[in-house]
Amino acid sequence: MANPTLRTIRLVLWGLVAIAIVTVGIYVLLPRGATSPSPIAPAVAQQYGAGDYTLVTDEGEPADDSIFVGQPSMVFFGFTHCPDVCPTTLGEMALWFSELGEEAADLRAFFVTVDPERDTPEVLNQYVGWVSDRITGLTGTPENIDAMAAAWGVHHEVVPLDTGGYNVDHTASVFLIDAQGEFQGTIAYGEATQTALDKLRMLVRG
Ligand code: NI
Repeated sequence: MANPTLRTIRLVLWGLVAIAIVTVGIYVLLPRGATSPSPIAPAVAQQYGAGDYTLVTDEGEPADDSIFVGQPSMVFFGFTHCPDVCPTTLGEMALWFSELGEEAADLRAFFVTVDPERDTPEVLNQYVGWVSDRITGLTGTPENIDAMAAAWGVHHEVVPLDTGGYNVDHTASVFLIDAQGEFQGTIAYGEATQTALDKLRMLVRG
């Protein structure tokens, strides 16, 4: 049996040879021009907020960024203990759904928690359940929620309360995402109902 050091060196060298062969193989096999698409090629939809994160719906089902493709969506980040912005926004969503009626039959919404420690799927299910069956709650591990918030450009920050406990400061805009997952704008917190409805009509008409 060979000296262990020599054996290690031999294994490393064979590893390098294997890597070189694979690299050359990939280079030879790649079709020329694969990295420079023709300018007349149709634009590929750019899914907003795509990323390597996994979530859990309020029904306990696993989800990833593909959940935001297929139908026009409103996406909002918040937490169930929120004293003002979140209840107000969810109340407005309920109003928008009822005002638009059949016009926005395809429209749906996601409420993504920025407080995954307290917002379990069960807690989220109760919270969004009273608003509309068209809102899906999403939670996950703190690491996955951080990754998702970063991908969506969403700010969230824990703020301890004098009375104990904490709040979470968070981005208060509603993201408008089309059926291809592309970003189409936002509805600001406190936006006039008519303006919000106009934006949603534009979104569902595509
Ligand atoms: Ni809130």
